Amino acid sequence: MRTIEWHEDKEAVKLIDQTLLPREYKLVECKRVDELIDAIKSLKVRGAPALGAAGAFGVVLACINANSKEAVESEVRELKIARPTAVNLSYGVDRVFNAALRGKTTAEMKLYALEEANRIAEEDIAVNKKIGEYGSELLKDGDVVLTHCNAGRLACVGWGTALGVIRTAIGKGKRIEVIACETRPLNQGSRLTTWELLHDNIPVTLITDSMSAAVMRAGRVNKVIVGADRVVKEGVLNKIGTYMHALVANAHNVPFYVAAPLSSFDMESSYKEIEIEERNPEELIYFGSEQIAPLDVNVYNPAFDFTPFELIEAVITENGVVHPVT
Ligand code: MRU
Repeated sequence: MRTIEWHEDKEAVKLIDQTLLPREYKLVECKRVDELIDAIKSLKVRGAPALGAAGAFGVVLACINANSKEAVESEVRELKIARPTAVNLSYGVDRVFNAALRGKTTAEMKLYALEEANRIAEEDIAVNKKIGEYGSELLKDGDVVLTHCNAGRLACVGWGTALGVIRTAIGKGKRIEVIACETRPLNQGSRLTTWELLHDNIPVTLITDSMSAAVMRAGRVNKVIVGADRVVKEGVLNKIGTYMHALVANAHNVPFYVAAPLSSFDMESSYKEIEIEERNPEELIYFGSEQIAPLDVNVYNPAFDFTPFELIEAVITENGVVHPVT
């Protein structure tokens, strides 16, 4: 099963509920845009490229449920802002909505939208594989790669960006091990990255985020590869903690790579203009249902941070490996 796909018989978006992993593998269906927005906000579906596909299929839902072009447009507007930082969501929504506009009726709009949304989903896998081809050339047999968050198949439609590079390298016969940072507060690293790597029999060791300096100082990491939520003109926005790992990698001469499709690029914008999503304080006050901080403590919970190109050895894209000039 892909992370996200269209179910034509049910006219629904089908996705893996990532909030339940690793303890439960469950598929959910969204038949309306508000259900999909809820799935996006609650991180049932997450990761920049998967959000691009979610936005794309969401436009199809809007065409099915709304009874006029204007009503489709209003649903699409809500969908586009469900999460602000990853550029792929608005990329997917805009691309499919523009295709849908070729239709004269909402039924025709749906057909054009579905064709384009499926194209985006197929492209995502193909693009990931190209990223994997280019990126795998950077890895040597025996490398240990540290990664943060989940930039694997669960963050995309079906292969992965950062983890796609590792998958491709292993497919070429290289022995690669992964160190996965747990990625507080929502633990995409411990819950999702380890789950999908173990599923593929890829050796992985879990560490807390605060251990990355110690493991790099001990010489246990050869490369760092992370994904991106948005590549802007001065660097990369990615899951909170990425900047810290980049600083640590640079301090220990460990090459720091970002693997990202061109659909995550927004080179017109500065990181200063991009909204960094701040999430619910409860993510820090509770661990699951367990209270781990005073209820009235002041909480700061940004979901992403910015890493300047100075700290990035290269960005791996479907068109090749780009070494930033700083
Ligand atoms: O908040 P999330 O889980 O949607 O965060 C997005 C991410 O998974 C990452 O930041 C990832 O590294 C980039 S998406 C391939």
